[in-house]
Amino acid sequence: MIKEYERCLFCAGENCSKACKKGGAPAKFIRSLYFGNITDINADCQSCETVDCESACLRGKIDYPVHIKKLAKYSAVLKIRPKVSLETTFCGVKCENPFFLSSSVVASDYEMCARALKMGWGGIVYKTIGLGEIKDVSPRFGQLSAGSLKGFRNLEQISDKPADVDFDILRRLKKDFPEKVVVVSIMGQNEAEWAYLAKKSEEIGADIIELNFSCPHMSAEKMGSDVGTDLELVKAFTAAVKAATSLPILAKMTPNITDITEPAKAAMEGGATGIAAINTIKSLTGFLSAPDMIDHKTAVSGYSGRNVKPLALRFICDIAKALPGTPISGMGGIENYKDAAEFMALGCGNVQITTAVMEYGYRIIDDLKLGLSEYLFSLGYENLSDFVGSSLQNITSADELDRETIVYPLFDEEKCVGCGRCYISCRDGGHDAIIFNEVPKLLGSKCVGCHLCRLICPVGAVASSKRVTKKVPLN
Ligand SMILES: Cc1cc2nc3c(=O)[nH]c(=O)nc-3n(C[C@H](O)[C@H](O)[C@H](O)COP(=O)(O)O)c2cc1C
Repeated sequence: MIKEYERCLFCAGENCSKACKKGGAPAKFIRSLYFGNITDINADCQSCETVDCESACLRGKIDYPVHIKKLAKYSAVLKIRPKVSLETTFCGVKCENPFFLSSSVVASDYEMCARALKMGWGGIVYKTIGLGEIKDVSPRFGQLSAGSLKGFRNLEQISDKPADVDFDILRRLKKDFPEKVVVVSIMGQNEAEWAYLAKKSEEIGADIIELNFSCPHMSAEKMGSDVGTDLELVKAFTAAVKAATSLPILAKMTPNITDITEPAKAAMEGGATGIAAINTIKSLTGFLSAPDMIDHKTAVSGYSGRNVKPLALRFICDIAKALPGTPISGMGGIENYKDAAEFMALGCGNVQITTAVMEYGYRIIDDLKLGLSEYLFSLGYENLSDFVGSSLQNITSADELDRETIVYPLFDEEKCVGCGRCYISCRDGGHDAIIFNEVPKLLGSKCVGCHLCRLICPVGAVASSKRVTKKVPLN
């Protein structure tokens, strides 16, 4: 369903907010709607006569301005904002909130990290530091759909700065932001390198060390996901780090493996404090498009962004079930508070984000914090830690699911616009259980309750009936 707020360009200048003479902040409230929050708008927006915001809207240069006043009319003005504190302790380290930048370009120099921390991020996992020379390619990114990073491919390796430069940056960051959590991501090529990098991390005052066992496109052998699929190396390198530092250790897993719990267990046996997952998924995009290619060539490289979230959640679920009580830092496709809540409900005490920041900027932290806090309140939680892992028991094996009952779709004629999409999908991709004559009508005898019609409806006109016992088919 295309929603009006999805037409917003999220422009850097926030022209609509600047044009407002009444102190409203339309850019912020539209973003809030986009990221699924209960909205936070200035009441004046609802009755505004001049609508200067719409005249300034950059979207007007493409087709027509975002209907900001209409959006405001349908939004709630919230004055009392119940809050649940997002303070938490992860791997024994106190965190102002559970939202960290994940190790990547978004956390790769002093100014960027400092700006993000000032804007409210609880911590940063700095771009992975190694000891070899790194040369990156250009261009290094690809995408599934134009204008969107929901399916995003990157060929970027670890930090291309000398390790000493990165460690100096981190020392300054920890000194200037003592209350924030600084995680150093490292990658060595042998035990001595891992130990050296761990010692340096401790020396500069880091709070946690993350072991990058998972970059899928390193140009050197025995690095990245090459290591993450080799259980002996995972254990040995984790043990080398453990022997070199007293800091908590997070081992970052690759999803490019059938059973992620095996390297996760190996890392815990080697002395890790917790597990981080997932790194990017090996992929190919854009190889028929000249601008994405490097001199007519490209290479399998890491996929991230919203589209990988279901896969990431599955890996998190596997880890949480196999290693109960282990601290888990989850990532892979988190964009809004609901995504984050899903990772947490499966057992992540901390979450990390890269691609959504690359798409929308550090400013998404406002919506993540507000949304999660209000969501926890709406569920009756008083703190974050009680929520962590609360849904794990609901994820069961397919053979344990009830197969004797059915939930039928219910068509709402008032909402239905008569497009017939449900009919086409059910006819050609379902069970041909819908008769369509300007509006859909269900043939109960043929419907198997698969809910394809509900998923495909562009206007949300299909709801669910109560769960009932299946009728025995008449032969
Ligand atoms: C451009 C880019 C660079 C990355 N660099 C690193 C890195 O240096 N070290 C690392 O552990 N992960 C790296 N990652 C992986 C991310 O930290 C994260 O695990 C992954 O992107 C999934 O999260 P997301 O969907 O929020 O981006 C990188 C990801 C991207 C997109």
